[in-house]
Amino acid sequence: MLSATPPSILHRFPRGTSFARRMAADTHPSADEAASSSGSDILPYTSGLNGVKLHMDQYLIKWLWISMVSIAVLILASRIIQLCNSHLRRIFSLTASTRQQSYWSFDKTSIWPQFKNNVLYAPLGKKRHNREVKFSEAVNVGTLPSRFHTFLLFLLLGSNIAYCCILDYRQSNKAALLAELRGRSGILATVNMIPLILLAGRNNPAISLLKVSFDTYNLLHRWIGRIVVVEAIVHTIAWGANCVQAKGMGGVGQSIREDPFLQWGLVGTVAMAIILVQSPSVVRHAFYETFLHLHQALAFAAILGVYIHLEIAKLPALPYIRAVVGLWASERLLRLLRLGYLNLSRRHGCTNVVVEALQGEACRVTFNLPRHVTVRPGSHVYAYLPRVSLWMSHPFSVAWTNVDSEPPTGAGTLSPISPTSPSSLEKQMTLSLQKSKEPTSISLVMVARTGMTRKIYDMARASEGGMMQISGYVEGPYAGHDSLKSYGTVVLFAGGAGITHHLVQIRHLIAASQAGTVATRKIVLVWSVRSVEMLSWVRPWMDEILQMEGRRDVLKILLFVTKPRSPRDLVSPSATVKLFPGRCRPPVILDEELPTRVGAAAVSVCGPGAFADEVRAAVRERLHWGSLDFVEEAFTW
Ligand SMILES: Cc1cc2nc3c(=O)[nH]c(=O)nc-3n(C[C@H](O)[C@H](O)[C@H](O)COP(=O)(O)OP(=O)(O)OC[C@H]3O[C@@H](n4cnc5c(N)ncnc54)[C@H](O)[C@@H]3O)c2cc1C
Ligand SMILES: NC(=O)c1ccc[n+]([C@@H]2O[C@H](COP(=O)([O-])OP(=O)(O)OC[C@H]3O[C@@H](n4cnc5c(N)ncnc54)[C@H](OP(=O)(O)O)[C@@H]3O)[C@@H](O)[C@H]2O)c1
Repeated sequence: MLSATPPSILHRFPRGTSFARRMAADTHPSADEAASSSGSDILPYTSGLNGVKLHMDQYLIKWLWISMVSIAVLILASRIIQLCNSHLRRIFSLTASTRQQSYWSFDKTSIWPQFKNNVLYAPLGKKRHNREVKFSEAVNVGTLPSRFHTFLLFLLLGSNIAYCCILDYRQSNKAALLAELRGRSGILATVNMIPLILLAGRNNPAISLLKVSFDTYNLLHRWIGRIVVVEAIVHTIAWGANCVQAKGMGGVGQSIREDPFLQWGLVGTVAMAIILVQSPSVVRHAFYETFLHLHQALAFAAILGVYIHLEIAKLPALPYIRAVVGLWASERLLRLLRLGYLNLSRRHGCTNVVVEALQGEACRVTFNLPRHVTVRPGSHVYAYLPRVSLWMSHPFSVAWTNVDSEPPTGAGTLSPISPTSPSSLEKQMTLSLQKSKEPTSISLVMVARTGMTRKIYDMARASEGGMMQISGYVEGPYAGHDSLKSYGTVVLFAGGAGITHHLVQIRHLIAASQAGTVATRKIVLVWSVRSVEMLSWVRPWMDEILQMEGRRDVLKILLFVTKPRSPRDLVSPSATVKLFPGRCRPPVILDEELPTRVGAAAVSVCGPGAFADEVRAAVRERLHWGSLDFVEEAFTW
């Protein structure tokens, strides 16, 4: 970016100076004097401080921060209220009978369900949210933001447009106005790079703090990115327009050739402009890995360009770009540290990976880590498999772990037989603690698509017995912040590979329900797959779940096979595990399950976007039935 700089006039006015006074105070003498628009009058506005309204810039940036922090605080406050409510509900429901839990099955006010229906859970229009807009199988234009997301995006866009337009239109010299716009758009672009980089990070602390998914931050990242690029381009054009007027086209070229300050600014703007061209959903999804490599290289070039541009002239935006570099570097470092910590141990060596080719074009990939780590239900990890995909990492939900790596459920930590002495109690506790330190194994199900997942599937299938051992690493676990422990009833919808998101959750809830440490009394798992072969993806884990103590009292499984080869394949094994042909209809399932719900209910979905939209629509239509929450694990990058 190409910007101009202030001397230390920033501290001329005390804090709290009013908007009008700042406007007046910022009027640079040379701007007033420059009444005509001859080349010599314009020249001062092509560089340096002339025309840049530093005080107004700082004032508006203060408001940009205030608005962003206020939104975060509002979300945090509402999350804290929700957390307190669910904690209370969980505590009161621990020993409550089904009838006693009915207190929690009704909303205490009609405002909250209406807010959920019309704002929080609402798609932009009638139903479409995560169902991709596709022109053909290969041309994926992306998804539509939800109503609440759209509101946030309008705030973001609207405020940035307003900040760029609040200029001193009284001045008669248009060059001064352009210089003011150059200063404003430049500093706004740099400040906006802070949330841009923060929200792109896997280790973004706002994920766990506000319990907002990475998917939502990713959406905001994309839109803030667009704003930054447009502001950088406006900044460059505002400089260019004055420069052309003052020096002619040849003069502009000469200025750039001679001045490293301008050259680095141009590097930043050009890199950003290329990012804008290569990042639309169609390109992103068609060539994801190429997009990612180019995106990261261009982002690096953009940050470097802006940094040197600001450093050369010691511009006031310098601290902001330093913050950007700090955030970016520390996120990358955290990833590396996490990766190293998880996969390397002096005592147990490094992670080994077992890959098994499965029917239904998928692989079961188990990472045996050298150390113990707690894996929250609903977490995902990034898998690095250098032999298959070099340095690239791919996100996958943790489909299964060893029980010891789950957060404590309260089940089986102490023997049911009362200890006979304090020393035997101590022994029991030591034993249980030792058990909980066993190294973790993390299993993933990778459905073969066209890139890395297809390659690993083909490699495993070609190996002896359809199995192979390779080296690999995981980074994470991330997310897993949507706790379902306070709901009496949990209905989990899964489409295809989406089952991976729910399995550990189910095991955790059944065990905790038996131990009396959660409110959950009824779990319904609805899983839709295309063929019966796909059921084999999770068979050993499902068998473990089906054999859990008390499972029959809590869990019911409905399996839908949409393209069965023969109806004879669809034999329901028991009354609590049923198989059906054809697509599942979420409204029908909710009509059947919700009238007999226990306490508050949560409906969670993970699967194809179109499927998730059906579930969302069915939930919204039934929000007035009583306390009902909707949780979606979406994947729309
Ligand atoms: C939180 C989360 C959990 C997931 N869990 C599972 C799971 O349990 N099982 C499962 O089969 N799939 C899961 N996925 C999807 C999985 O990440 C992709 O299918 C996989 O990365 C595709 O790799 P590929 O090279 O074969 O992709 P390609 O066939 O080349 O591309 C298919 C699509 O996958 C996505 N993709 C490709 N490469 C990457 C990458 N490096 N990072 C992110 N996305 C990429 C892009 O959207 C692309 O359009 C999950 C995705 C997310 C975000
Ligand atoms: N944590 C996460 O974010 C996470 C984890 C795992 C997977 N995923 C994502 O989940 C998705 C799963 O894809 P997949 O290829 O495994 O699924 P899929 O095979 O395309 O679909 C799974 C099932 O869902 C059914 N279905 C699709 N649309 C439906 C609708 N509108 N109504 C009712 N049923 C519908 C399908 O029926 P038909 O056969 O009739 O189409 C099929 O039986 C992927 O996008 C994957 O990336 C995300």
